[in-house]
Amino acid sequence: MIKPYKRSTTDSDKGAFHSMAEVAEVVQRVVEHGESLDRLLVQPGLSGQRSQPAFRETAYGTCRHFPHIDWHLGMLLGRPLRQKDRILHFLLAVGIYQIEHMHIPDYAVLNESVEATSSLGRNWARKLVNGVLRSYLRDRNHHDLSEMPEHQAHAFPELLFDRIKSDWPEHHLEIVKASNTRPPLTLRVNLEKTSRNKAIQTLRENAMACVATRDSPAGLTLSSPVPVKKIPGFSQGEVSVQDESAQLASLEMECGENLNVLDACAAPGGKTTHLIELFRENCTITAVDLDSRCMLIDQNLARLGLQANIVAGDLLKPETWWDGNPYDRILLDVPCSGSGIIRRHPDIKYRRKPEDLDKFHMLQTSMLVAVWELLRPGGFVLYVTCSIFHRENDDVIASFVSRGGDREVQSISKIPGIATRFGMQRLPGFGEGDGFYYCKIRKPLRTAGE
Ligand SMILES: C[S@@+](CC[C@H](N)C(=O)[O-])C[C@H]1O[C@@H](n2cnc3c(N)ncnc32)[C@H](O)[C@@H]1O
Repeated sequence: MIKPYKRSTTDSDKGAFHSMAEVAEVVQRVVEHGESLDRLLVQPGLSGQRSQPAFRETAYGTCRHFPHIDWHLGMLLGRPLRQKDRILHFLLAVGIYQIEHMHIPDYAVLNESVEATSSLGRNWARKLVNGVLRSYLRDRNHHDLSEMPEHQAHAFPELLFDRIKSDWPEHHLEIVKASNTRPPLTLRVNLEKTSRNKAIQTLRENAMACVATRDSPAGLTLSSPVPVKKIPGFSQGEVSVQDESAQLASLEMECGENLNVLDACAAPGGKTTHLIELFRENCTITAVDLDSRCMLIDQNLARLGLQANIVAGDLLKPETWWDGNPYDRILLDVPCSGSGIIRRHPDIKYRRKPEDLDKFHMLQTSMLVAVWELLRPGGFVLYVTCSIFHRENDDVIASFVSRGGDREVQSISKIPGIATRFGMQRLPGFGEGDGFYYCKIRKPLRTAGE
């Protein structure tokens, strides 16, 4: 039974009406036009509604669950709204998300959704929005869910769901389920400055419950997310935000004495700072990324009080930036589909097109070919993606090793996961971390006479 709702008309209430319409616009831009949630909501200096946690939660959550909600809307609307009024479809989706996933009373959602029609310049739709949401509340448990296509039942677009199923037929359900959860906030403790136990104790003293990560010795996961600036030790560089699977990459780099190390594709610098924390005593560390992204590495280093050689350069054109001194270790964390981090970036569900995987495959292979020329014999490249697709992982390595005999794939020794033909895969839902792939390729020392 929906309780009558009496709303006062203070300014903040008007703001709330406005914000629901604005969330609907953001969700439409992501779902229909493939725009990035981060670009829309995580820009530095963003103010107003969009900078509010409740706004972000609603936008991210509606995008995360949209294919599922969309099926219910199909049942409720009977025939689709006209294209020029599609924004109402997204307003209704936001309302259903709030009803199902946020602690907002049904009557408040109903009222605010109806009021939002005016902000959207569609006063005529008040009755429609009211009627559809009331029908949803009344009928949602009577919809025959066995009619729902499998991909929508799991809140995924069909092509993406099918691709995950075909790459991971035995694991796809755990993967999609984990990809629909809210991501944990995981920290990496700078063990040069403090111990993990001390960091856990300090957080608990500040009423921030947390637990140590299972696989990364420097990781801890907070039970509820908090703004980073409130985390004790964050501005002093004692902790950084980094997912557990991302933390594991630097551990595999085995940097001994006096090594020349390249962090290729370094921005925003999550792994660069970890490499420095681990190996700066013994090694020279260079971080390369495109010019426009180097500032991010610089900011990260400044917060932690660390230094590295930051080089603005295109990996595919080493002649424009490389000093000719070969590297003993190269961490190559390539651009990828991000299919392993959908829980953090639910817009990936709508941004990737089937042809993107081939484009990434070509770019990743070219990057591997380019950095191979910078590697000293006896050294290795650690190839890393946050993808779960073979096309960006084992297939890239297969195409790379088939090009020459001087490429030895070595086993990954410090990262638990599923061993694949060439590397190691961590899947979402198997442990706490994101979906990542790692592969180590060594360049053999030349033998006499070569
Ligand atoms: C997955 S991100 C790297 C994340 C980073 N390693 C970290 O841990 O914070 C991939 C990076 O590759 C960079 N990139 C893409 N094309 C590049 C190119 N041609 N040369 C250098 N960097 C490139 C992107 O700018 C992006 O920062």
